[in-house]
Amino acid sequence: MSYALITGGAIGLGRAFSDLLADRGYDLILTSRSLDHLASAQKEIQAKYRVKVQIFVGDLAKSDFRDKLIEFIKPYDIDILINNAGFGHNDLFIDAPLDKEFQMIDLNIKALQHLMKHFYGYFKDKSGGRIINVSSLAGFVPGAYASTYYATKAYVTSLTRAAAYEAKVTKSNVVIQALCPGPLKTQFFETAGTSIKFYKKDPKMAARQALDAKRVIIVPGFKEKIAHGLLKIMPTSLSVRFAGFGQKRKKNQ
Ligand SMILES: NC(=O)c1ccc[n+]([C@@H]2O[C@H](COP(=O)([O-])OP(=O)(O)OC[C@H]3O[C@@H](n4cnc5c(N)ncnc54)[C@H](OP(=O)(O)O)[C@@H]3O)[C@@H](O)[C@H]2O)c1
Repeated sequence: MSYALITGGAIGLGRAFSDLLADRGYDLILTSRSLDHLASAQKEIQAKYRVKVQIFVGDLAKSDFRDKLIEFIKPYDIDILINNAGFGHNDLFIDAPLDKEFQMIDLNIKALQHLMKHFYGYFKDKSGGRIINVSSLAGFVPGAYASTYYATKAYVTSLTRAAAYEAKVTKSNVVIQALCPGPLKTQFFETAGTSIKFYKKDPKMAARQALDAKRVIIVPGFKEKIAHGLLKIMPTSLSVRFAGFGQKRKKNQ
């Protein structure tokens, strides 16, 4: 059976992808920094779905680790890349530590682009494959109080749209998509130093809709689709205020 590579695949949204892909018969390669999380996911998934799970521990924000990962995966026949690992923050731009912002850019943008570039070529050579880049509803609006995170996701969505268009017009047989969820029940908010008590959706719902989708831009959930529709027609001067208000409330809850 062919493999799926899922970055950040041991917990949260990545784990939801891992479970669903294992249920659909894919063997998995999971990578993230926590050996404990990876080892538990490996054990649980192998026991439940009877598929093979390889794990590779390291920091995707570092380009030498990404080179090692690309070396590690060479023997495996991979059909799907889920470019999922990412994190957010909640600070005024002026207060956010520059090293944290650069780390976010290294992970949310550079790591995603590095693997996307590698796999686009690899899938093109083997005449087929699929890349799902995990972006966010945050990518459709400038986000005061989390400006760098929102900007990284705008980059991911824009890059995905353009590359998907090129893949289509050059008849490459490579499917490239962006998943743009609203708030999900994962550790994301704790890591970002925020909290949000309501509206959080099951990450499995988002992962399932992504895997079943044919569209380039995937917005899972009814309310999220409405929010996306509103963001498309609203002047940016207004949407930036709404996003800033929502982001500020998350910090205060
Ligand atoms: N949760 C939401 O509301 C939401 C909404 C929209 C989009 N998203 C996006 O969904 C994706 C997954 O987030 P999540 O919600 O599942 O959050 P999460 O539960 O915090 O999971 C993040 C995953 O990324 C991995 N990761 C973080 N830094 C890493 C690094 N430097 N190197 C390798 N792996 C790293 C984490 O593993 P380690 O810490 O062990 O490395 C973990 O597996 C992110 O791209 C996020 O922006 C989330």
